[in-house]
Formats: sequence, structure tokens, C-alpha cells
Amino acid sequence: MSLVPPSAAARARSRVQSPQEYETLLARSLDDPDGFWRDQASALTWFHAPANIVEDDGHGEVTWFSGGRLNASVNAVDRHARTHPDRAAIIGAAPDGTLTTWTFAELKARVGRIANALVHRGVRRGDRVVVYMPTTPQAAAVMLACSRIGAVHVVVNPAYSAETLRERIEDVGAELIVTADAAPWDRQVLPLKRRVDQAVAGLSQVRCVLVDRHQAVPVSMTAGRDHWLQTELQRHRVACPAVWQPAEAPLFIMHTSGSTGAARGMVHTTAGYLVWACTTFRYLFDLRPGDVHLCTADLGWITGHTYALYGPLTAGITTVLVEGHPGRPDRGRLGALIDAVQATTLYTAPAVLRCMRAAGDAVLARSLRTSLRVLGSVGERLEPDLWQWLHQEVGGGRCPIVDTWWQTETGGAMLANLPGALPARPGYVGRPMFGVRPVLLDRDGRRIEGEGSGVLAIAGTWPGQARTLYGDHAAYLATYHPHPGLFVTGDGAHRDAEGYFAITGRVDDVLTVGGHRLGPAELEDTLCAHDAVLEAAVVATALPDGGEQITVFIVPAPWATTPADDLRAALVEQLRLAIGPIATPGRVWFVSGLPRTRTGKLLRRVLRHLCDGGTRPSDDDLADIADPSVVDEILEVIQPDRLRQRAD
Ligand code: WTA
Repeated sequence: MSLVPPSAAARARSRVQSPQEYETLLARSLDDPDGFWRDQASALTWFHAPANIVEDDGHGEVTWFSGGRLNASVNAVDRHARTHPDRAAIIGAAPDGTLTTWTFAELKARVGRIANALVHRGVRRGDRVVVYMPTTPQAAAVMLACSRIGAVHVVVNPAYSAETLRERIEDVGAELIVTADAAPWDRQVLPLKRRVDQAVAGLSQVRCVLVDRHQAVPVSMTAGRDHWLQTELQRHRVACPAVWQPAEAPLFIMHTSGSTGAARGMVHTTAGYLVWACTTFRYLFDLRPGDVHLCTADLGWITGHTYALYGPLTAGITTVLVEGHPGRPDRGRLGALIDAVQATTLYTAPAVLRCMRAAGDAVLARSLRTSLRVLGSVGERLEPDLWQWLHQEVGGGRCPIVDTWWQTETGGAMLANLPGALPARPGYVGRPMFGVRPVLLDRDGRRIEGEGSGVLAIAGTWPGQARTLYGDHAAYLATYHPHPGLFVTGDGAHRDAEGYFAITGRVDDVLTVGGHRLGPAELEDTLCAHDAVLEAAVVATALPDGGEQITVFIVPAPWATTPADDLRAALVEQLRLAIGPIATPGRVWFVSGLPRTRTGKLLRRVLRHLCDGGTRPSDDDLADIADPSVVDEILEVIQPDRLRQRAD
């Protein structure tokens, strides 16, 4: 086996020291992408070094690092197990405060055993394996074991219901599922194995279910199909040869919501994704040897994949995995965890920070947090007052804040305030990451130069770009590449005179609530499945604390006899069962009609505008709406909330 060793560039410090250095590196990454990315790629271990760096036809067909061969688990685990076997690779933080630490050597052994068990159960290169587990070291090892044998992991967040799980199993044609008996979540226990049983009932494609005994709760096991992971592991050796994957081989599929239809399976590749995860991770968090990185994201989100697993481990940094809600059962949990693991970097979401802030100063004062050096945020807008609170109260005024903007589709951070490189600007997500050319488009798809606001798009390609939508490349091209040479993001942004970006929110109808992304169509379809519902509309609306909530509008069916309160409770329950607790609405309003165009298109932006305290649109603005009287009725129905907003 010939290995291409890491280069000096890979060992160099990742910190950008000054704005000048940032400009120089950015210019090089854009002017000489081949040279820049060849250097970055040399931070990885390759079986065959890539022959080419990038090929891009300008119409959404891109290839990165072609000719190269590598394995993700070797890069994340083996090479560090060789050079520093006793360094902590993963620290698992259970909700009860228990910490489990696995060194790189232990992780390698665990990954090897699981990989052998998967092969024994018939998993082959290219097969999709669905992982439905809590965020534990074991789940991370399962993901890495898939990558070791060239299987494609498809992690489904344990907060999702049996129904959503089934859709995703069917979408990717998985034959094997790895789950746990149950998972603790916010004072409840999620019955994961039971949900898997419901999800696969009658699905003949699923041959095997491996179950991690995690909570020691009783579960039913189907003979011939279900096996305990622990028993499997006792049977298998630790050594498992790694499959050397072609650069463009899929590493994983992650589902995400769009504004129409069911969730889409975004496909990420082995080489491009890994180079992107490793490069962006090193620059974002100003890493030093011995750092402990704490990312609160669940492994079932893209952030968990990139910045709790592949980024830190590929860079050889200790990663802390947080099982369950970071603010439950005790709101002081995160502060205590930072102290317990001596975390140097904290990467979290505004929703988690708001929950921490709401707990009050006394709870925060129970932890010291003096180990922290860099604070990062992702998922939603980090509004300036939350930014200030994070800076002063959590970081004691010492730590730079990296607000990062990105998406499941982009694989890793695209816009950020790199610590040391750029002066802080609360409310802004900063400047482009290396290799990224953000552009703003007006309504007609024309580029806006200089200061301005528009739809955010990315020109050209970057290594971490999702290459396709599983099983539907035509839909991928239609959604993301409507204009030649541009990837369209679905977010609106403002660029100031210095080139700093601020995200203004989605321009489509996708909901991002509490850092979770949901598609309105998925929720509306679930609501309309209820007998008493004629029509439904779902939007995300502003909360006084800066967050957003799910707001539902229901047109009851004329034959419905259920009293409003009962129907409301039933619909909330239906959403929780069909999608998961993350889909719990904050408000359910009953109305007799929805704003629709004359061709019947639902105008969710009108609902959002009204709920967010906007004024009644003028008659001219209402000209698009088939029946403008619905707007007056809606204003009347939501009046109590609008009055409260004004009082706040
Ligand atoms: C939103 C999560 C404001 C945005 C990594 C994007 C943000 C969607 C930020 C992607 C930020 C992400 N400021 N909004 N720093 N980061 N978003 O796919 O609307 O779960 O399109 O990926 O979250 O959500 P996703």
C-alpha cells in the first residue's frame, strides 16, 4: 500500500493572522484553485493522489480530485491512531452527565469490528445503510465503519418519526438499518427500535436491523432480522481493510427539506467533502494541538456530520458529542460540559444559546468556561443582542465569534468571520470562505454589484458541494442550477460596502425553526391528511426572543364537527407523530380561506408578513390574491398576537 504523506502545508498552522493574510489566501484560492486545493488536499492521506483538481461544465456537472483514491475512516481515524493512539478522539456526553472517552486507538478497533459485522451481514460497497441512533460514540463509529467499507451512510435524526424514517429507508433502498433500543431526549425516552419496527413493517427490502443496547429497555427482536450490535461485535476482529474509494464515490446521503415535496437526499462525495470539511474546520476554529472541540449538533444533521465528526477527526482534534438536547434535563448542562471536558471551541446554534440565556445568569454562573477560546454559531441568524450576550456572558469578552452561514447542500461553511482575520461585525456572517464566490441576484436573475440585497448564489463550484439529489439528478439541476454557472441557495442576503454579508432569511418557503429545517409541503400534507381539514398552510414566524416558531393556518372542512380546541390538539399530535417533536407548531389558527393567487398558488409570504406584524397590504398589492377578503379575516384572527407583539 503506498500512502501519499501529508505535506508541510497540511501541518502549518491553520490560523489566519491578519486581514491581509485573509485577502491573500482568498485571492489565491480564487485565482489559482488548482494550486490552492492541491495544497489543502495534501492534508489528507491518499492511496492515489488526484490527477486533476477540478472539472466543472458550468451546468452543475462537477468533479473534484478525479483520479484520487482515499478512505474517509483512514483519514479520520487510522492515521491518528498511528501517530497518537492515546489521544482522545471522541468524548461522548450523555444527558446524565456521564462522559465516555475513546482514544484514536480504541475508535479504530471499534470501527474495524463494526465494519466487519456490516460486511458479515452482507453490506457491500455502494450499499446504503440507514443509521437511526442518538448522538453517541457508537453512532459515530457506525458512520465511520460504513465509510471504511465504501457503504453510504444515511443518518436519520432520532427526533424523526417512524413515518419519516420509512420514507427515507425507501428513498435510498436501504437493506440494513442500525439503531438503538431507545434514546433519552428531553426528559423522555424515544422508542427507536419500536419506531424502526413500525417503519419497516411490510418493507421486504430491509433484511437486517442491528440494535445497539443503549438504554437497556425491553424491545422486541424479530428472529432472523434483528441482531444486537454488542453480540455482533464480540464475533468480529478489529482489523478490517479499508476500501480505497474513488474521489467522487458517495460518502453519505443527508436528507433536507425544500419548499416543495418530500425531503431530498443530498449526495456528498468522499474526496471533495472530506477536503472541504477538513479545510474549513481548521480555518474556522483557529486550532492548536490539544484542542477539544464541542459541537452541540446532533449527528443526524449536516452540522453533526461536518463539524462534530469528519472535520475534527480528520484534523486529529478531540470531538465532544452531545447526546440529547444540550439544554436538558438541566439548563446548566452545556456550561457544566464545557468545564468538564475543558472545551476550547464551542460551535452551536442560536436556538441553544437562547435557551441558555433564558435560564438566567445564576445558571450560567455555575460554570467557569475559562477553557473556551473560539465561539461559533450556525443554523439561524445570530441577532446582534444574542451576539453580545454570547461574547460577554458566555465567552467573558475574550473569545472571537465565528458566525457561519452554510447549508446541507454546501457541505461546510461558505461565509464566516474567520477569527483573527476579520473584525467582528454582529449581525453579519462575514466574508467568503476560501474558494467561495458569493454573488447576489436580483428578481430577474441579474447580478448585483457592490452594496445591495438579493438572492444569494454561489458562482462556480467548491469541493464540498453536494453533487446530486439521490435518484433525481434532473430535480437537482432544476432546483439549484437554474442559471448557468451559478448555484442558487434559497436565502436572501445583504452585502455591505466592505463585502460583508448578512443573511436576511429564506426567499423560498423553507422553514428554519430552532436550527431545524423543514419543508412546508411535508407539514401541510400531514395536516391535510386529517378528516376535518380542508386546507392547511404552514409558515415560520418571528418570536420576541429573536427565534422563529411554526405557525399553522387551517381551513376546517365544512363537515367537520370537532370543537376547535380538540382539533388543534389533534393536529399538533398528528404533526409530532408524522414528523417528530421538532415539527410542533407554536400557533394553530382557524380561518375560512387562505391567500392564493388566481391560479391557486398559496402565498405563504403574505401569511408570514401578517404574522410578523406587517401592515395590511394595499389593494394594489392584494391584486394578485384571488379573494383579498381572506387577508382581513386573517388579520382579525391573529389580532391577539399582533397586539402582544406591539406591547413587547
Ligand atoms: C439557515 C445548516 C442565518 C439558512 C448548516 C440556510 C443561517 C439554512 C445561518 C440551512 C446563519 C444557516 N445565519 N441563517 N449563520 N446558517 N442558516 O441545511 O436559511 O439545515 O439556508 O444547514 O439555515 O439549513 P441546513
